[in-house]
Order: sequence, then C-alpha cells, then structure tokens
Amino acid sequence: MSQPESRYAEVYRAWQCDPEAWWAEAASAISWHKIWDRVLDPAIGPYGAWFPGGLLNISENCLDRHVAAGRGAETALIWDSPLAGRNARFTYAELTARVAHVAGALAALGVGPGDRVVIYMPMVPEAAITMLACARIGAIHSVVFGGFAAAELAARIADAKPRVIVAASCGLEPGRIVAYQPILDAALALSPHKPEACLILQREMAPATLTKGRDYDFLTAEANAKPADPVPVRATDPLYILYTSGTTGRPKGVVRDHGGYAVALHLSMGMIYGLGAGDVFWTASDVGWVVGHSYIVYAPLLAGCTSVMYEGKPVGTPDAGAFGRVIAAHGVKVLFTAPTALRAIKQQDPEAKLLTSHDLSRLEALFLAGERCDPPTAEWAAEKLARPVVDHWWQTETGWPITAGFRGLGLFPFKPGSGGRPAPGYDLQTLDDNGAVLPRGASGHLAIRLPLPPGAAPTLWQNEAGFRTAYLSDFPGWYRTGDAGMIDADGDVWVMGRTDDIINTAGHRLSTGAMEEVLASHADVAECAVIGAQDTLKGQVPVGMVVLKAGVSRASVEITEELVALVRERIGPVASFKQVYVVPRLPKTRSGKILRAAIRRLADGEPANPPPTIEDPAALDDIAAALHSR
Ligand code: COA
Ligand code: AMP
Repeated sequence: MSQPESRYAEVYRAWQCDPEAWWAEAASAISWHKIWDRVLDPAIGPYGAWFPGGLLNISENCLDRHVAAGRGAETALIWDSPLAGRNARFTYAELTARVAHVAGALAALGVGPGDRVVIYMPMVPEAAITMLACARIGAIHSVVFGGFAAAELAARIADAKPRVIVAASCGLEPGRIVAYQPILDAALALSPHKPEACLILQREMAPATLTKGRDYDFLTAEANAKPADPVPVRATDPLYILYTSGTTGRPKGVVRDHGGYAVALHLSMGMIYGLGAGDVFWTASDVGWVVGHSYIVYAPLLAGCTSVMYEGKPVGTPDAGAFGRVIAAHGVKVLFTAPTALRAIKQQDPEAKLLTSHDLSRLEALFLAGERCDPPTAEWAAEKLARPVVDHWWQTETGWPITAGFRGLGLFPFKPGSGGRPAPGYDLQTLDDNGAVLPRGASGHLAIRLPLPPGAAPTLWQNEAGFRTAYLSDFPGWYRTGDAGMIDADGDVWVMGRTDDIINTAGHRLSTGAMEEVLASHADVAECAVIGAQDTLKGQVPVGMVVLKAGVSRASVEITEELVALVRERIGPVASFKQVYVVPRLPKTRSGKILRAAIRRLADGEPANPPPTIEDPAALDDIAAALHSR
C-alpha cells in the first residue's frame, strides 16, 4: 500500500506522458561538454541509443565536478578492510588526484579511447581508482570478479582483448590468501590474446614476482605518471564491459555506455535511495558485480555521496556484528546488501545482538537485491533493525533497478517477498508464452517494453546479434528479463525465479549450463544435469547428477571428488559446487529432454510432478535415492 504523501504515481505518469522530455530533464543534472542531438535515437543498435551527439566524461562528473564546486575536502571513499586490518579515507580532491595519475600511467602504457583494460582486483580502493581512471581517458574497463578461476578470466581476456591488465598481487578470503599472480599467469597462458602490459598492485600479504618486460608496479607507475585530464567522450561510447552468466557456458559481455548510465544512476540515488551530496552510502557487494560497479563506484560519486568500500564478510570478520561496526564507524545512512548476507548474520546471531550492539542511529534504510529476499529474512531484518527494508530487483543488463521502493518519492511499503514497483523508465508487464500482456495477478514472463531506459545495456560486446537472440527475439518489441513473476493489484512486482538455467548462489549469478559443460568434459561422464536447489544460507546451490560411461569401474566417490575439483578449477570457488551424485540414468521426456525441473523439485523435497511425456518414471526414483544421502 502506498503512503498518501507518495509522489511515485505522479512521477511515473510524467515519465509515461513524455519519456523523452522526462529523461532530458534528468540528464540536466549531469555536466555535459556538448548537449545531445536527440534524447533517443531508436534507429541505433538493437533498440535505440540514448543521448546521441552528447559529449561528457563520467569520471569528471564523479570527481572533478565536486572539487570544482568546492567540495574537494569532503570524503568520497572510505575503505574498510577487516581482512587486511586497514582503513583508508579519500577526499574528493585526493581521489581525483589518484585517478588522474593512474589515468596518466595507463596512457603512458599506450591506453587510449576505446582500448580495453581488464581489471582483476579485490575490494581495494585501487580497483575503483582504476575503473575511474579508464573512464577518464575513454578506455573501456572490464572488471573480473576474484572468485573466478583462470579459465573464466582467460575467456574474458580473449573476448575483451585488453591492451593492459591491472591486477592486484592477491585477494583476501577469511583464513586464506588468494594469490592472483598464478591465476593471471595461467589465464594468460590459456588466452590467445595477450596484453601489452600488466600493472600489478603489490599487497604486502603476498607480493607477486613481476615478469620483466610485461609487469609494472602499480604504485610506482602511478607516482611517476603525469596526471591525465578527463577527455570528453560520446554519450553512446562504451564505458565498460561486464561479463555475466548467460544461458550457455560462454559469458555475455554486457556493455554500458557513458551518458545514459550517468543520467540513470544519478537519478536513482535521489529517487530510489533518497540520498544526496554528503550522505554515506554503503553497498556491501564486490566491484566484480554490477551492484559494485553501479553502487560502490559510479552512482554514489555522481551524487557527491561518501561511498564505503568493504573488504570483509558479514560473518567471520570477525563476527556477525561486522555490519553494525561498519555502519557505526562511518555513519552509514543507507546500507545495500544481498539477502544471503542477512541470512548468514541471522544464522549466527538470531537475535541480532552483535549487530545491534553498535550505534546504528544514523542508519535510515536497508536495501536488498541480488536474489529474491525470502519473507522471513526480510521480516527478521525489519524487526531487528527497526528501519525500512526495501527489496529491489535488477540485473547486470539493466545496470540499475527495474523495480524498487522509492525513498526519494515517499513510496517504500513493506511487502516481504515483493520487489516493489517499476521505476519510471520501465514499462514492465507479464507476458504469456505467446507474448500477450497478462492481467494483474497472473504469473508469466516479466518483460520490459522497448526501448530499455538510459543506463541499461545498449548491446553485448561486439555481439549485437547475440543481444537480439538472448533478449529480444522471444517477444518482439520487448526485452525478456529471463525472470518469471507477477504484478499484483497494487502494481507491486513479485519476482519468483528464472525461466532459464541461471541460478543465484549467495547473490552470485551462475549458469548451471556452464557447470554441465565442465562435468561433461570429464572422461568418465556420459551425461549430466545440474540444477539449483534451495539452500538456507545461499538461497540456491548447484547440485549435479552424472551418468557414467558404460564400463567405468572406478569408485563413484573418486569420480565425484574429481568433478567437484574440476568445477572449482574451471569456473572457480564462487560456483559453490560441492554436491554431485552418480545415478544410473537421468529422467527424460520421450523426445530425450532431461527433466531438470523435476530433479530440482525432488532436491527441494517437493513431489517431482513429471510431465506425462516422461519416458521412464523409475528414473526419478534413482534421483530421489541419490538425493536421500544429501
Ligand atoms: N576471491 C576468491 N574466492 C572467493 C571470492 C573472491 N572474491 N569470493 C568468494 N570466494 C570463495 C569463498 O572463499 C568460498 O571458498 P571455499 O569454497 O573455499 O569456502 C567460495 O568462493 C564460495 O563463496 P561464497 O558463496 O561467498 O560463500 P562463503 O561461505 O565464503 O560466504 C556469505 C557466504 C553469505 C558470507 C557470502 O557469500 C557473502 O557475503 N555474500 C554476500 C553476497 C554479495 O555481496 N553478493 C553480491 C551481489 S549483491
Ligand atoms: P545479476 O545480473 O547478477 O544482478 O543477477 C540478476 C538476477 O538476479 C535477476 O534476473 C534475478 O533472477 C535475480 N535478482 C536480483 N535481484 C532480485 C530481487 N530483488 N528479487 C528477485 N530476484 C532478484
């Protein structure tokens, strides 16, 4: 139910009445070197391009603009690392200077507009600094999450073809140091494309041995560099590529542009999060994910906020009170995290005593995304924090929320399990299998009428056809989100799950298809299926079923251990692939399609409900028997 003072309906209607005028007004909050020729040109790309003809620099909007406005002494970024035992604070002036120097260092290595830079770094300030430095000189960054294995890094390097790779010597996980150099070396050996140079940030916990002629010390290069000024780039130029799981093993290179992204993110800070200059915003995610790109780096800085960057976990660094400590230490006004982080805290500290033992008086709201927040977790957080808890739904592709609660517009009802209302800019509907719009209350495919708003991906990296096939071809005139759900009578959206093979494990987006490819590559495996089973901590975890080739006589346990190790080696620890079972056969339809949904239901303890076309119902008994040992 909407609060009576809410301006949401009025603002949404204003956008509907004249989308271009509405976006033009939003764009006026950004500094442009040249104003756009048109707000939207529908003829460019798969569905149109925002602000063509416009020139700007997003890094300049994030940094120099605030310094020029006299806010140089205010804090832009706080780094808090319980894993490193360090903290750091950067004012807008300091951050601008560091970004300008790193931009200069990249330029000295030959990086220019349109060149790609792969960033393989953990949650250190230099990751954000390098992203902003690339943007400053018009280079396109592509950040790779630290939990991926060498083969995944190699696939991204091969596709993005970076001129330079910027990496740290190590990342820190509780109880272990993840040395990045061996992973980077292995990735470079696998990738047909080799960069011209690597800039390596040496961390004292595990310094890397630099390869002469290829690797350069990050801090030395920064110190020796001539600071680079921001260059005006076209609004439609790519700012970054962020690879995300698709429905095949090959990751999709989601492209983001400069202009639309700057406009949408700036708008979202006020409209959705209710934050402005000087407010402290903490997004407890990772720069390797879209949430980190948008709400650790670009959006808070565009809005002149203080962004908190946290290298730690919700539990274990050192305990389930960690989030409370950070909120109190830095005066966090809004916290944004994934539901899995709350579940981890709740498991260890059900009464939230550790969390609430800290001074949370400056916290005003909690935002959740990355996966659907189960109602008990949302209710627990709302009760323990006694603050609004706002679930909002979005994707790597959209770059900012599709649905949300709107603190800036006075609409943030608490409806646990719902992701809120569509943001202005999104005409969201549920469609049936034929693409017909369904009435309120009916479940179907959640789809967005084209064009997508500013900030959303204009295309996939060098793969416009892939963009059309993946998102636009099923329902002409619509963007298929890949999520199923329902819009209720109030207009609130309920996102219930994916319609493809993507699963969310601890808020991390993974493809079960990619895991199946790895399992199928094992010499003893004849066929396999991987499904996402419910998990009380991580939301979903992958569970594999394999049928061995005829004549394989090795012990199943030996093979399953190899399979777990293989997924970790090829995809990475972040896959959380720990459960795989050998079964005599897989349940299939008469036409040979594996009944993954039936396997998933069994894994979740539900009746299998196979379709009438099942070939051999007894195959389900084998699956049930295997799962019995879980
Ligand atoms: N670099 C290297 N390894 C990483 C990594 C990184 N950046 N991130 C995770 N891993 C590893 C973990 O160490 C773990 O390894 P293990 O199998 O040896 O234990 C594995 O990947 C799985 O990690 P994860 O799924 O995160 O589980 P966890 O048990 O380590 O932690 C939570 C569980 C809930 C505490 C953690 O997932 C969390 O903080 N989630 C928040 C999610 C989030 O911010 N998502 C972003 C989207 S908004
Ligand atoms: P990612 O691209 O990693 O951000 O993952 C996007 C997917 O995560 C979406 O398509 C959804 O399946 C899921 N997701 C993200 N946020 C939510 C949410 N608030 N509610 C339900 N599902 C979500």
